[in-house]
Amino acid sequence: MDYKAYIADKIRLDGVTKQEIYESVALPPNSEMGDYALPCFKFSKILRKSPVVIAEELKGKFTLDDGVLSEVSAVNGYLNFKVNKSALTKSVLSAIFEQGGGYGSSDVGNGKTICIDYSSVNIAKPFHIGHLSTTVIGGALYRIYKFLGYNVVGINHLGDYGTQFGKLICAYKHWGNKEEVERGGIHAVNDLYVRFNSEADEQMENEAREYFRLIENGDKEANELFEWFKSLTLKYVGTIYDRLKITFDSYAGERFYTDKMQPVIDELNEKGLLKESDGAKIVDLEPYGMSPCLILRSDGASLYATRDLAAAIYRKNTYDFYKCLYVVAYQQNLHFKQVFKVLELMGKPWAKDLVHVAYGMVSLEDGAMSTRKGKVVWLEDVISRCVEKAKAIIEEKNPRLENKDETAEKVGVGAAIFGALYNNKIKDIVFSYDKVLSFEGETSVYVQYTCARANSVLEKAGEAGTAFENYEVNALEFEVIKALASFPDAVKEAAEKYEPSIVARFAVDLAQKYNKFYIECKILTAEGEAKPFRLMLTGATLQTLKNALGLLGIGVPDKM
Ligand code: ARG
Repeated sequence: MDYKAYIADKIRLDGVTKQEIYESVALPPNSEMGDYALPCFKFSKILRKSPVVIAEELKGKFTLDDGVLSEVSAVNGYLNFKVNKSALTKSVLSAIFEQGGGYGSSDVGNGKTICIDYSSVNIAKPFHIGHLSTTVIGGALYRIYKFLGYNVVGINHLGDYGTQFGKLICAYKHWGNKEEVERGGIHAVNDLYVRFNSEADEQMENEAREYFRLIENGDKEANELFEWFKSLTLKYVGTIYDRLKITFDSYAGERFYTDKMQPVIDELNEKGLLKESDGAKIVDLEPYGMSPCLILRSDGASLYATRDLAAAIYRKNTYDFYKCLYVVAYQQNLHFKQVFKVLELMGKPWAKDLVHVAYGMVSLEDGAMSTRKGKVVWLEDVISRCVEKAKAIIEEKNPRLENKDETAEKVGVGAAIFGALYNNKIKDIVFSYDKVLSFEGETSVYVQYTCARANSVLEKAGEAGTAFENYEVNALEFEVIKALASFPDAVKEAAEKYEPSIVARFAVDLAQKYNKFYIECKILTAEGEAKPFRLMLTGATLQTLKNALGLLGIGVPDKM
């Protein structure tokens, strides 16, 4: 139930829109005053009345006849509302038990397509910890939009175009051998590339340019080598994607747009947007306060932006998206601003539907990360270390647990995901193993542990509880009910703001409220209707936490 919408619907104020009222309805600082409040001072000016008078008048007109709210009062210029507890309790619990894994889902997205460009790996480059964010934020948005009924297209915009592949082939020809690369996989390939950059002389640089030309011209051997490096890369990321529960619908990367750039260049030309500058072709963005968008270099080569222009047009034509999201680090802010602006100047009305979902940097506690300093931390090592640490914690806390490895995988991988998702995505974060694996902090481990606790209560009871008739919920129980009721809105808000952290925070908040209740209230030994009700509350919490973590790609072990 969206109480804010319900309240906004019932209130009429001359000169104030329903939307303004909706946005003004707030949660009062303490729940003694009410569950929702409308501060009336905001409307004083327009209505030329004091907030106290406005609140009084609104109260006089407000009807409670449909039983959704139980009380409305006017206090100091605030209109306070109390929710009808038993009506809310009944409707939330029955929604959760009826919908199960679908609780929180909706059909608002029906008939709309969202493209999400995320994780977008570069061929021959292993993932480092920075790739965790794009992968798990994109993956979470993918599931969240699906849950809301959208048709979602997950796109891995492969970085598979550029002169670096000429260098790579050249390095392989000089120093590489097949067995070693087969054995070492993508890391062996990356080592060759790194070696080229530190050791190649003029002669090798020339050879590399020639190899790049050979790839472009369809030379068989050069392309076979390239495809081999690509397949090693996809195999490598595939194992990481499996662990993180990430999937894609398209792997159309930069190379895919090779033959789709010319029409874009022609169109730019026709529309008079293309300008010469030192032999290069650019779109001037000076009037918009941006440096020019480079379309063709002076040697005629296309650029990253050229391919992104072609890709956006292709996606619009192919999927007719409602929105197209790019989950890419904020370092590329300017790039996306330029690309979106150029499309707007080309007269594409849908340019406004392109969204750069930017996120901050991730570094590890000890400062490791930079490629140039050679101190790189590979993503698979971060994940494995989380899982090892989870295993050690389980060994210590619950040595007799069955399926320890399976549980450690869920807990460890979950911690890595949650660590990258929990904060507002634009913030830079410092990844700490101890923090993400803490049982007490705001972590997935804490949420999973709460689930295990709920599971064990239900197991001991041997029943799921039953509907209740006259049970009066207490304050702690009602806090849990309100949290449960807010889940569908949290999911919607996460989608609207492109912010999976809202779902992550929801999960922590619900777990905290459930634990407060669990510590203060008896469940298995409760009297009368309290016992079946509390079991239901426990089951509903477990289900909702599972749904929330599931949207983030995090599994829930039965026991921990
Ligand atoms: N591969 C690029 C990188 O690592 C990210 C690609 C993002 N997507 C896009 N359409 N530009 O920086």
